[in-house]
Amino acid sequence: MQATLPCLNALGKKNGFQFTFREADIGGIAIDRHNGIKFTYLLIFINYRTHYFFLLSLDPFPDVTLDLCKSADSILLASIGGYKWDNNPRNLRPETGLLKMRKSLGLFANLRPAKVVPQLINSSTLKPEIINGVDIMIVRELTGGIYFGTPKGIEVDPVTGIKKGYSTGVYTEPEIERIAKIALNVARKRNKKLCSVDKANVLDVSQLWREVVIKTHAKEFSDVELSHMYVDNCAMQLIRWPKQFDTIVTGNMFGDILSDEASMLVGSLGMLPSASLGDPSGPGVFEPCHGSAPDIAGQNKANPLAQILSAAMMLRYDLSRGDEADQLEKAVEKVLDLGFRTGDIKEPGCKLLGTKEMGEEVTKAILSL
Ligand code: IPM
Ligand code: MG
Repeated sequence: MQATLPCLNALGKKNGFQFTFREADIGGIAIDRHNGIKFTYLLIFINYRTHYFFLLSLDPFPDVTLDLCKSADSILLASIGGYKWDNNPRNLRPETGLLKMRKSLGLFANLRPAKVVPQLINSSTLKPEIINGVDIMIVRELTGGIYFGTPKGIEVDPVTGIKKGYSTGVYTEPEIERIAKIALNVARKRNKKLCSVDKANVLDVSQLWREVVIKTHAKEFSDVELSHMYVDNCAMQLIRWPKQFDTIVTGNMFGDILSDEASMLVGSLGMLPSASLGDPSGPGVFEPCHGSAPDIAGQNKANPLAQILSAAMMLRYDLSRGDEADQLEKAVEKVLDLGFRTGDIKEPGCKLLGTKEMGEEVTKAILSL
């Protein structure tokens, strides 16, 4: 994020407008900053009951953050997660904050583009002829499915003492229809080819998914070519012959997995931006697909390009600044053309940069476009 904001400021300067940035906490830092002091204090001085009450009030997505999000035109999100919070109970995990953010802002459509950039063709573990020209858009349903379905939990059998964990994959007709519509519209603006990915040979929820996608397509999208694929086959086909795909639509968990896989076509998860959209009158969330990479946190090694490209998606999808989005993407291309690389996409003969320096090169490229 620190490498990205100067790029946005440079874009504003070049195009005669200004961003107003407000910062808000989510994830581990929200737990630490908003409640940490109270919590320690209470642990020492207050009786068990009050302490328990405050323990419950810890929140990886606090109301002040939600309020600020709701009042914003758009939300640019950095990555969440870290070792410090890894063993927290579920309600106090950074990931729970992210899920709560998506749900409470109604961001049901997650767009994850995987477009191979010619400059990085050698960064992928796959052969150049397989990935050259790959341009896939994964549309992932983001607020339903097994991530949010109930009942869920972990229980101990009182007799045997054996533990049981369970989650439920649920989709309602309207939930499937609205994501199918988004995906069909996205496909219509691309190469008019949509592949819906499910596990309809085994899961009832996927059977309904397929039925509703077919119905939605038949209603008003006959110009878009619709196909269906089982998720296991799709995982294989993405590696075997990725060029067969244009737009993919799938549920929450399959989309999570397939988008990580698709990132390796591009060379690095450090290159993959995303847009999470809901009702167009509210703000969307724009975040890199990658996590917080806690193993290299604070070492100025992370690739900021997924974050910067997420800002480009924000300009295009939420702020009606398509030209500026193009400029930002061109600046990233230029920096790659010049041979600048972070560690995750390095190759022999490249100019290896840190996070901050990579951001500075993008800023320079914007101003010199
Ligand atoms: C993603 C991430 C999140 C998800 C985690 C961090 C909750 O993997 O955005 O892909 O599973 O959705
Ligand atoms: Mg993921």
